[in-house]
Amino acid sequence: MNTLLASLLLALGTCASVQAAGLVGNAEAGQDKIAVCTACHGPDGNSPLASFPRLAGQGERYLLKQLREIKSGQRVVPEMTGLLNPLNDQDLADMAAWYARQKPAVGAADPALVARGQALFRGGKPEQGVPACTGCHLPDGSGIVSAGFPRLGGQHADYIKRQLMAFREGQRVNDGDTQVMRTIAGRLSTQDIEALAQYIQGLH
Ligand code: HEC
Ligand code: HEC
Repeated sequence: MNTLLASLLLALGTCASVQAAGLVGNAEAGQDKIAVCTACHGPDGNSPLASFPRLAGQGERYLLKQLREIKSGQRVVPEMTGLLNPLNDQDLADMAAWYARQKPAVGAADPALVARGQALFRGGKPEQGVPACTGCHLPDGSGIVSAGFPRLGGQHADYIKRQLMAFREGQRVNDGDTQVMRTIAGRLSTQDIEALAQYIQGLH
């Protein structure tokens, strides 16, 4: 394991345990609250449009963190402006619990980019200090639910690309004090990002 990955994991582990005490979401109650979300994220959390992220099967803890930060404006999602304002923390936890229990769909990767995407995902770019994505998102892309490391596997390539570009340009800044994803994305070229996004879309 390289030193960047080791220090990031250590720092993330520390913040993870601080946030661990929290709410328990009720998936059944969540189902009654997601009607307003289905237009964009699909009836079962598998959004039909590539620019809207799939939420089905995403880690509960990651989902709750995103919902809190979208609500507070720490993560800017113009399409969801104001939508979460009437909802309290329990509502957010319930919706996170519901989406986490839905079955994730998987896309297909562009065959021309799979080899490059796979090499980056599994090996990183050691010469530039980019750790393998598998260290935190796992080889099958399922993420580490308890640590809040998100599932990536099967996610729309368009969405993944947009997030990596946003981390790289400093437009998405909710990856914590360690700036783990801003640091990593800052060392990826646009071609790297496109290959990773395609590989991830087909990963399961
Ligand atoms: C008008 C369309 C729209 C509606 C309605 C909407 N969303 Fe979103 N949502 C988006 C878009 C677009 C993004 C991704 C923005 C970006 O690129 O960062 C997003 C992102 C998210 C994310 C972050 C996903 C991730 O992988 O990080 C969560 C969680 C989420 N939405 C939950 C909800 C919930 C719950 C509702 C209903 C209360 C909802 N959304 C309603 C468009 C919408
Ligand atoms: C040291 C751990 C770590 C490594 C290594 C890592 N990530 Fe992440 N990644 C995270 C964490 C933590 C988040 C969630 C940040 C947040 O809470 O918003 C994340 C979020 C993401 C997201 C946003 C997901 C979404 O649904 O919006 C993408 C895309 C992503 N990572 C891709 C990658 C890729 C590609 C690599 C390899 C080049 C990689 N990550 C390596 C920890 C890591």
